[in-house]
Amino acid sequence: MVSMPEQTRPAAPRSFATAQIQAGFDSGVAENTAVPSIHQSNGFEFRSLTEARELFALRKDGNIYSRAANPTVLVFEKRVAELEGGIAAAGVASGQAAVAVALLALAKQGEHIVAARQLYGGTVDLLQDTFADWGIEVTFVDQDDLDAWRAAVRPSTRALFAESISNPIAQVLDLGAVAAVAKDAGVPLVIDNTVATPYLQRAKDFGADIVVHSATKFIGGHGTSLGGVVVDLGTFDFTAQPGRWPQLTATYPRVPDGSLVERFGETGSPYIALVKTKYVHDLGPSLSAFNAFQLLQGLETLDLRMQRHTASALAVARFLEAHPAVARVHHPGLDSSPWRTQAQTYLPDGTSSVFAFDLHATGDPDADFRLVEELISRLQVIRLVANIGDARSLVAHPASMTHSHMSPTQLAEAHIGPTTVRLSIGLEDARDIVDDLARALDRIPATADSTELAESVAG
Ligand SMILES: Cc1ncc(COP(=O)(O)O)c(C=O)c1O
Repeated sequence: MVSMPEQTRPAAPRSFATAQIQAGFDSGVAENTAVPSIHQSNGFEFRSLTEARELFALRKDGNIYSRAANPTVLVFEKRVAELEGGIAAAGVASGQAAVAVALLALAKQGEHIVAARQLYGGTVDLLQDTFADWGIEVTFVDQDDLDAWRAAVRPSTRALFAESISNPIAQVLDLGAVAAVAKDAGVPLVIDNTVATPYLQRAKDFGADIVVHSATKFIGGHGTSLGGVVVDLGTFDFTAQPGRWPQLTATYPRVPDGSLVERFGETGSPYIALVKTKYVHDLGPSLSAFNAFQLLQGLETLDLRMQRHTASALAVARFLEAHPAVARVHHPGLDSSPWRTQAQTYLPDGTSSVFAFDLHATGDPDADFRLVEELISRLQVIRLVANIGDARSLVAHPASMTHSHMSPTQLAEAHIGPTTVRLSIGLEDARDIVDDLARALDRIPATADSTELAESVAG
């Protein structure tokens, strides 16, 4: 089926573990396959020109062309929508595309977004660079400073945006409090739930309105397939202030004689219809059927994998915290974390398996870089890869890799230092991961003494 954002209504309530395997797929198709098929077809044959006309006019649901919608992608969309408790979803080519189209559908030229400072570096690039080119202004605030969120809101603000667990420092957002600011401002709260996944946190339960994911990460879970998804949680009423949202409430040229709210307001999601029929259709960041299939396979084990990921990550964080070469561990499951209380509220089933730690910095940028390089070069189990949420344990140096486009001030505001090392703990045996770090840290000095460091690196 196409396109459109029909609401996800399971016949009977089902638990997370059942939904992650069954949601969105009806096995009663002609081929009777037990698992969703890969519908690797660009286009779909119409029975008649009359049918084609009805489909193009969005009067009828059905398959047209895979840039806009594809049957395998639709199963993926329905499944993620159900796991997030949403009403409809749009699968896209990457997490970056998901953030872009989710926000473009809310804010246009001359309008404004308030976003957390603590974001994945690629998202910062998008918001401060490309959105600026397009005349969409973004104010960045410290995500823990509720007054700053409130003060940044303007009449032209159209969305608040943050990550539920930030990459790479694993700050846990006080989602309920930021949702209250969004509610007062009359705009939706958009949450990037990539690191938490719907298994660790249903952002809807705390007041989010729209969720985005890089499905490339834990949803796929095996480092093979890029993908993203935007989920409408069905909580934001775009008709309460219709003048603010003309893209949804005024006549939409692509729906004959009406608005998206009139066409989809009762039966689906006008917002997801806009994401698909305008932004994915026009810009083209479509999710391929093959990748949707891979992501569906990943989803089927999401709960099991997240349990292992988070338990192993906490064990690694505890080991690192006790190691003299480590200056600080940023993990919300540790009692020393400033976000421990928030983690207890928002992540009761396990905290983050993406987190960071700092080596003792020397104050000399070159020496700090060599220190991190020395550590990383000694790792044998944990691999140097710019990705997270993989079955493999991965390491990265945010300041020179994923967050390298940020200014020194932005890095400091996001708590990323020159010796901050990011880990994404995989599914290997936790003892092997700890042993790997223990071996690598063995040669790293326990103080910020640069002479000792120089000797260590030279030796
Ligand atoms: C939190 C977060 N959001 C979005 C993205 C972008 O996702 P993708 O690489 O799938 O485009 C990433 C990538 O690392 C991420 O970590």
